[in-house]
Amino acid sequence: MTQPAPAADQQPGIAERAALFSVLTGGWIAQACYAIAKLGIPDLLAEAPRTVDDLAAACGADPRALHRTLRALSASDLLRESPPRTFALTPTTRLLCSDYRRSSRPTALMFGEEVHGAFGEILHTLRTGRPAFERLHDVPFYDYLGEHPQAAATFHAAMGAAAVPAALAACDLRGLGTVVDIGGGEGGLLAKVLARHRAARGVLVDLPESIDLARTRLTEAGLADRVDFVPGSFFDEKTVPPGADLYILSRVLHNWDDPSAATILRRVREAIPPDGRLLVFEYLEDQDEPPTTRPTRFAAQAKLIDLLMLVMVDGHDRTLAQYRTLLTAAGFAIRSIHPAPTHASRSETAIEAVPV
Ligand SMILES: C[S@@+](CC[C@H](N)C(=O)[O-])C[C@H]1O[C@@H](n2cnc3c(N)ncnc32)[C@H](O)[C@@H]1O
Repeated sequence: MTQPAPAADQQPGIAERAALFSVLTGGWIAQACYAIAKLGIPDLLAEAPRTVDDLAAACGADPRALHRTLRALSASDLLRESPPRTFALTPTTRLLCSDYRRSSRPTALMFGEEVHGAFGEILHTLRTGRPAFERLHDVPFYDYLGEHPQAAATFHAAMGAAAVPAALAACDLRGLGTVVDIGGGEGGLLAKVLARHRAARGVLVDLPESIDLARTRLTEAGLADRVDFVPGSFFDEKTVPPGADLYILSRVLHNWDDPSAATILRRVREAIPPDGRLLVFEYLEDQDEPPTTRPTRFAAQAKLIDLLMLVMVDGHDRTLAQYRTLLTAAGFAIRSIHPAPTHASRSETAIEAVPV
């Protein structure tokens, strides 16, 4: 059966062919960005433009291969080329310099290695609904990080470079005594809370390999003497310390399927005192699917992060109604909701819940 011809204004033309070519080759550009980040080329270009031969000698690359790669990146506006065979950073690739504030280099390394490998197996995810990462490595993502310290350090550096959820500013934390950040990663959010609330103490719960990184970061911030570090799994009984005023789960629950997310919330419920509070920071899916308005750039990013959860871990973004169901089943009631400011690129909402 032949397909009916699309209406004239729906027919693909040259522009659509070019757009599709860009999409299909986007992975090549991404891997080229990964490779120059891995070789430290953005750092070599941080001060001034340099020639290919100079760069190749400094990072141990083949000059011809490097030239062709840098040319392709220039053609995509990611570098600037000027004669003779000299390249400079653009504002976008400056983000790949390792000492730039909230550098994107760790994200480029993680996307170019573990994530790229898993997306190569995305068909497995589509056929089975299971994370391609597990098919490739035979272990769940966080177990893999436990066995690969370098990958764990890169992952936590990438997470640490992500902005602390902007909705934190809308939460009333006056009079805070003790705050427990569960799955707190490198400790960026805890550092922000403790810097603002000078009388407060913090507890950071995370897997052992993350705790060492958090200790280093909070020591550098001069806050380590106000923090207890608890290495352990939030799935285990008694890992989450009891009796704190405030418990935080930031960007944790979307890593897990419903039964696992329910277990994490139950562990918090076992620890939280009757007058304690829980703050969950998560990106909220639209209540109406499909969305009635065209997705914004940030909403499109959020859908890609949800796809990342699908391919890498067994997690997903949820609607507010789905979080309410999980929280209610674990013995919490939602007390207030603080949406992220609309200008925030990572627009997690703060859901404040109390035990019932
Ligand atoms: C997506 S990161 C979020 C980090 C941080 N809360 C943030 O908002 O940037 C998820 C965190 O959960 C931690 N995690 C994963 N499995 C865990 C477990 N079983 N017990 C404790 N922490 C765990 C990871 O090490 C990581 O730091």
